[in-house]
Amino acid sequence: TIAEAPQAVGQAQAQALAPVAKDVTILFGSQTGNSDKLAKKMAKRLEGEGFEVTTASMNNFKPNNLKKISHLLIVVSTHGEGEPPDNAISFHEFIHSKRAPQLEGMHYSILALGDTSYEFFCQTGKDFDKRLEELGATRIADRADCDVDFEETASEWMSQVSGALAKLVQAQSGAAAQAAGGASIQAAPAALESEYSRSNPFQAEVLENLNLNGRGSDRETRHVEISLEGSDLTYEPGDSIGIVPENDSRLVDELIAYMGWQQNDNVIVNKNGEQHTLRNALISYYEITVLTKPLLKQFAETTSNAELTELVSEGQEQKLKSYLSGRDLIDLVKDYSLKGMSAQTFVSLLRKIPARLYSISSSLKANPEEVHITVRSVRYEANGRERNGVCSVQLAERVAAGDKLPIFIQNNPNFKLPESTDTPIIMIGPGTGVAPFRAFLGEREEAGAEGKSWLFYGDQHFATDFLYQVEWQRWLKDGVLTRMDVAFSRDTAEKVYVQHRMLEKGEELYKWLQEGAHVYVCGDEKRMAHDVHAALLEIIGRHGGLSAEQAAEYVAQMQQQKRYQRDVY
Ligand code: 2AM
Repeated sequence: TIAEAPQAVGQAQAQALAPVAKDVTILFGSQTGNSDKLAKKMAKRLEGEGFEVTTASMNNFKPNNLKKISHLLIVVSTHGEGEPPDNAISFHEFIHSKRAPQLEGMHYSILALGDTSYEFFCQTGKDFDKRLEELGATRIADRADCDVDFEETASEWMSQVSGALAKLVQAQSGAAAQAAGGASIQAAPAALESEYSRSNPFQAEVLENLNLNGRGSDRETRHVEISLEGSDLTYEPGDSIGIVPENDSRLVDELIAYMGWQQNDNVIVNKNGEQHTLRNALISYYEITVLTKPLLKQFAETTSNAELTELVSEGQEQKLKSYLSGRDLIDLVKDYSLKGMSAQTFVSLLRKIPARLYSISSSLKANPEEVHITVRSVRYEANGRERNGVCSVQLAERVAAGDKLPIFIQNNPNFKLPESTDTPIIMIGPGTGVAPFRAFLGEREEAGAEGKSWLFYGDQHFATDFLYQVEWQRWLKDGVLTRMDVAFSRDTAEKVYVQHRMLEKGEELYKWLQEGAHVYVCGDEKRMAHDVHAALLEIIGRHGGLSAEQAAEYVAQMQQQKRYQRDVY
């Protein structure tokens, strides 16, 4: 979405200030919509400060225009193993190619979104930062790398960039421009966000909480229905909800007991001096189940523990990586005998517990004032202990109808039904990846959509793992769903996956693509989405008579036209 044309007022200012450039271009690349939101927030702020701001998603931006930009801001997240989000792929590729122009006159800064629990933290932001510098552009404010809880770092970056831009313009324009009114434009106070968010979640009542898997299944998948009553919250199919989870009190009690702390002692949890009892802080406020390199570094520095210092030193990356996997804070304090630490020092090193995002599996039109999610319980064994996913197991074991959950809506502009209800859709969603497609079909049913739809679903066993089976069958019967192909991987000697079904039906699938079908993929990223992508390329190559390169171009164009959208994790 390209920002609207500059308003009349803005144009007048630009003329008054000519030839000083007060234009700012903000490009964003986002999988979940956080970058979009931040980019737009920054745009609003800079517009309030008198800048002409153009905001665009990277895949809507013509790279040829890059040379014309005097001030460029990039807000971009990182995905998977350090990869750019889908809507940043082509721009990322362009700027790293030989076709990228020299950018000597350009000033820029980067806001990078990421998660410190991943090895390639903020990699895409780092890539852009390095590359723009190589191309001769000048950095006006240091790149900010945000952890999951991005709000504070992002707002610091915004202040720095806005200050730097103001200075730059002032330096360029001199006193004359100031007289023309440029610097006299005051920053509009940021509009108060009335919306519920990570830092201000809505306490929503749980209406239902069921296990969708049959007896004997390896899996437990919770269908949770949550009430939005009293919140004014709305959403569209494809959006997600965020849940601020709680840690398992058993882990917290074990930690407190081992460290010899008092659970009712108060600790200060943030810069505002907010206090909670230690036990509550460890349950509700901090992350205690994930170890990251930055966290261990801080523990090493604070405790001067020689062994831990050794573990985080250069050259120990492999050892560190294997230590981090499947361990939590209890392991850390035991393995490195960190018993002497005070509770306050300890908690001040922790990061806030990140909210968990789940793709919404309901349509608001079909279920007014409700939101449904489909959550698989994460349970595994590692390093001699049973480990549980924080939020998924909280939902499975500690949340019942009538309880309250702190939630917010996370819009996902990159996973949306086609504008026209006549457009055919192909949905690929094995396992809990099927969640948004229940929302899609619910929505299409309410709209009386005429467009064809095709679902590829898969899981381990037909008998126990066919999530929402009855609903798909009803939609098939009623014509809301046109086709369904399923792949149950453990019912037969040979494994069959959704991509095998796609390949089998390749000719028909290609026909749908030629008719303009939109393709949606949701679910596991590393294996499934990767293999499904490869299958799509193969189908297009085979049935379109295209070379590998041409097939890739075909898919790139689909992506550009938002006809290939993924919600993968
Ligand atoms: P498996 O567990 O039998 O390997 C939902 O989790 C379904 O996705 C399961 O049937 C699972 O099969 C399957 N799955 C695992 N790896 C996959 C891959 N690379 N591509 C597609 N499906 C996969």
